[in-house]
Amino acid sequence: MRVPVQIICFSCFLFSVTFVQGQEKKCGHPEETKMVILNLERGEIILTEQQWSILARQVTCQLELTESEAVRTIPEGKTIFKAGETVEITCSGKSQIFYKQETFTCTDNGKWDYKPTCEEIKCQVPHNQHVYLPTYYFSGNLNLNVKRSYNCESGYRKMAVQATCKRDGWTPKPLCAEIMCDPPNIPNAEIVGDGTCQEQELKNVEILFGHPGITSPYKPGHILVFRCTNVNMRFYGQRAIECQPDGRWNYPYPQCGGTVQCSQPTTNLRFVTLSDEKTVFSNFEILTYECNEPYNENSGGVLMCQNGKWNGTFICKSGICPPPPYLQHGDYSIISSTEKKVITEVSYTCQSYYVLDKQQESYKCADGIWEAPPKCLRPCEINDIVEKYNLQLPTEKVYIAHANKYRLNCIAGWNTGSEMRAYVDVSCSNGNLQIDKSCDTQNN
Ligand SMILES: *[C@@H]1O[C@H](CO)[C@@H](O)[C@H](O)[C@H]1NC(C)=O
Repeated sequence: MRVPVQIICFSCFLFSVTFVQGQEKKCGHPEETKMVILNLERGEIILTEQQWSILARQVTCQLELTESEAVRTIPEGKTIFKAGETVEITCSGKSQIFYKQETFTCTDNGKWDYKPTCEEIKCQVPHNQHVYLPTYYFSGNLNLNVKRSYNCESGYRKMAVQATCKRDGWTPKPLCAEIMCDPPNIPNAEIVGDGTCQEQELKNVEILFGHPGITSPYKPGHILVFRCTNVNMRFYGQRAIECQPDGRWNYPYPQCGGTVQCSQPTTNLRFVTLSDEKTVFSNFEILTYECNEPYNENSGGVLMCQNGKWNGTFICKSGICPPPPYLQHGDYSIISSTEKKVITEVSYTCQSYYVLDKQQESYKCADGIWEAPPKCLRPCEINDIVEKYNLQLPTEKVYIAHANKYRLNCIAGWNTGSEMRAYVDVSCSNGNLQIDKSCDTQNN
């Protein structure tokens, strides 16, 4: 998916300010005070409240006012404003008879709500905005708050009955919109910041932020980033989706449900003593471990269950050799070890149906480094894909190990075409079922 990652992360930071402030007021649940920023490349990053406030303090707006009409600013002389702070500017009127006073606010995204200036606000004729006959409908005085009726070019639709001249140009923005994606209508979801999604069943997914903006209409190129409304729920689907040029989302809306949890880590479990022997840990739960002798060069550490995965593995070392490399879907047996029980040579085996990718009797640790371990190649399951080849699906589940073959019969009345053979030998290559013939000939 094409995602402007830089922009996303930037907006993410900005939008999170808004989001976090709302969240803190609402609930006092301890997990809720943890701030979540989504980084599309690496999953979620969690900041503490303290880290967050350091980041948030860096949001500032700069006041640059060079106009001679600006008579006074309050507070006087101040040029850097934090998010939420305001400045009041007094301008001399064009006629020099009256003064005009206005207040501007620095917003959470480090920008002024409106550009602090004494300039008279005028809107331009909206050219190149797909407005029908703009010079005709937008002639004459286009001062602040002026309203105009308008129409859109074909293929575009009006976004409001009238256009209004505001400080930042015409509203609505855009005046005319092209093909739209429908606003989300997802079961178990709600949109943050959009008070119109009131349906009761919409509650497990929320939009963390949108780019640009989180409210519809969503134009092509618009990106929405989701998260579960509850940190302990499991997320199904895409974290971010994009509105395509044809007005469809590139992925369906995600859903959340169930609970996120971690099971007890398995890697190198034999070298540690756990603070807690339970087998299931909830999201954000901490697991403390101590390294056992002789792998206690470092004493131990802490792991955290984050969105169903531990944020690391046990790190235990001995001065001579680290623990033997972990083999997924397999295990090792010790061939030799030192007097102090530091393992120096092992052999590997795979769990049933898995097959080692190289046949080597043993693997040794030399100068503190282990030889590269083998891999366990995956078995294949015979599933209903074979029916596409007119082959009979076995009545019981059948698994075949890597590099092995299995004979399947053609469905009644069909054969492979060569000598009326009514079976096909399928094979397995690291989890991929290989079928190189089909029963494509009907018996006569
Ligand atoms: C995992 O998270 C815990 C708690 O925040 C932290 O102390 C630990 O250093 C993290 N471990 C890794 C490997 O990042």
